[in-house]
Amino acid sequence: MPEDFNPGTEGSGGVEGKATEHLPKGTIEPAEMVEVSIDAPQFQVAAAHPERVERGIAVMFLVGLAGFMGFGASYWQNYSNFWLGITLGVGFFGLGIGMVAWGKYLMPRGPFSEARHSAAPTPEEQEAFLTDFTSRGKVAIERRGFLLKLLGAAGGVFAIVAAFPLLRSLGPLPKMLFYHTAWKKGSYLMTAEGRKVHEDDLEKGGVLTVFPQGDIGGALSQTMLIRVEDASYGYVVTAPHRKTWGPKGYLAFSKVCTHAGCPVALYQKALNQLLCPCHQSIFDVGPGRPATPVFGPAPRPLPQLPLYIDSKGFLRAQAPYDEPVGPGFWERGAN
Ligand code: FES
Repeated sequence: MPEDFNPGTEGSGGVEGKATEHLPKGTIEPAEMVEVSIDAPQFQVAAAHPERVERGIAVMFLVGLAGFMGFGASYWQNYSNFWLGITLGVGFFGLGIGMVAWGKYLMPRGPFSEARHSAAPTPEEQEAFLTDFTSRGKVAIERRGFLLKLLGAAGGVFAIVAAFPLLRSLGPLPKMLFYHTAWKKGSYLMTAEGRKVHEDDLEKGGVLTVFPQGDIGGALSQTMLIRVEDASYGYVVTAPHRKTWGPKGYLAFSKVCTHAGCPVALYQKALNQLLCPCHQSIFDVGPGRPATPVFGPAPRPLPQLPLYIDSKGFLRAQAPYDEPVGPGFWERGAN
């Protein structure tokens, strides 16, 4: 054992305390300064073969680095959650094992303790502590510069891939998407199978989900086509300015609920009401009833699509919806 190491006190920063029994109560004798070499046993690492352990840790950091890079690539390529979980797990496994092994086998093994009798260190003690504290940690870390760089690389890659959701998962800005659907002047009403809807297709009380050409299945364009039960099969006028919007008993309303956007999927022909199954909003339709909500949380009527029947008997849109479909949003009304 080196002469400059005192295993009896093992004071941090090479400070050894003295007993104070001989002093009056309350008196604190300044601690005696003891020089401790960097080669003292408590500064030695626990590993019997540090180079071997160092190589093992480097391998683990490389594994972690590869895992995080794999996670980033999998995320970017939209791979399944299975691969996201595997690659992220490998990344954390490699990084974690490497860091634990570094701390356990390649850092000074100690133990280190502070002399207890001195609550107020002298300036010399403070200086000795600071010098020792900074030099000990610095020497231990600087000895492993290669590992330090690998650790930085793995941590850096992880920080980058952790930001991927901000770049990719939020998707593109909606821009004017909420204001317009794919309905245009003259659009044919199409079934979900892509067939044009003819005026003979629906009986009284019938209902059908329709889409414009080019947007079959479109979430914003989906429209409920109904043929009201009690109409005389002339024009059904739901509001004074909609005199020609409902030819031969046909009415078309947006299927996107004005509450939270669920599909308004049910038509109660006996009452001439559309029902949203999500929160039970009920919309009144028919002559003088422009899909006004009469029950439930929906705040606005469903927008109506103006229809006409062409010379071959196919149903078509006179014009697009004249207002945004679906729930309210923060900029609604700004344009
Ligand atoms: S989404 Fe239709 S009532 Fe809530």
